[in-house]
Amino acid sequence: MAVTLKNKVELDLMRRAGRIVGECHLLLREAVRPGVTTAQLNRLVHEYIVKQGGVPSFLGYPGPTPYPAATCISVNDEIVHGIPGPRILHEGDIVSIDIGAIWQGYHGDSAWSYPVGRVKPAAQALLDVTEQTLYHALEFARAGGRLSDISHAIQSYAEARGYGVVRKYISHGVGRSLHEDPQIRNYGEPGKGLRLQPGMTFAIEPMITQGHYESRELADNWTVVTLDGSLAAHFEHTIAITESGGPEILTRQD
Ligand code: MF3
Ligand code: CO
Repeated sequence: MAVTLKNKVELDLMRRAGRIVGECHLLLREAVRPGVTTAQLNRLVHEYIVKQGGVPSFLGYPGPTPYPAATCISVNDEIVHGIPGPRILHEGDIVSIDIGAIWQGYHGDSAWSYPVGRVKPAAQALLDVTEQTLYHALEFARAGGRLSDISHAIQSYAEARGYGVVRKYISHGVGRSLHEDPQIRNYGEPGKGLRLQPGMTFAIEPMITQGHYESRELADNWTVVTLDGSLAAHFEHTIAITESGGPEILTRQD
């Protein structure tokens, strides 16, 4: 599949999809608290997407079994693709919540990691560095640059601070499909691959660990955890490459 460039009309639809996802994260900022279950958080997001006239992207996503929820909710050593359920969040946990919404056929995709109540300084540092890694990488999402400049920015920023960069899961093109070309590694040498052009739309999603980057999948065939049991965080924005320089963040939270 080729990399598609989105026109103005398509970008407007993606802005709308992205806004719905961003607003879900605004709700979660308040809703993530000790005592809440991951199923309750999922329901909040699912109902909000539907109320806005959108469709949850992840529900039914093909896999070993169709993905069963509107969100992926991954706690502590879980990196991505955690399935919401009866698990109760406790003070000191960290939780990554990944959300996709479709508006008139176009997707917005954004993950954010949250502290549950008060967390240890090391857990907060992981959250801070992962968020900063995302924003650092976005500085390289500009027309004229190369795809792997983004990859390199992620790896170099996080590793220089002593963190692991998960290798097995990647950033990606997004638009009419949740996952489009190009596939974007979160690590690698700069200056390689596709030249970035206005109208390209990507979901940039560093997954960062406190320890080693190696991951494994649980027996539910979805949940991915760190092999060494260390904490993981995940921040993701859907962005568009613009004419005028920096990326436009389509999943902003304001
Ligand atoms: N943001 C994740 C990704 O791009 C969410 C998709 S997982 C799904 O891979 F299976 F639930 F859809
Ligand atoms: Co994604």
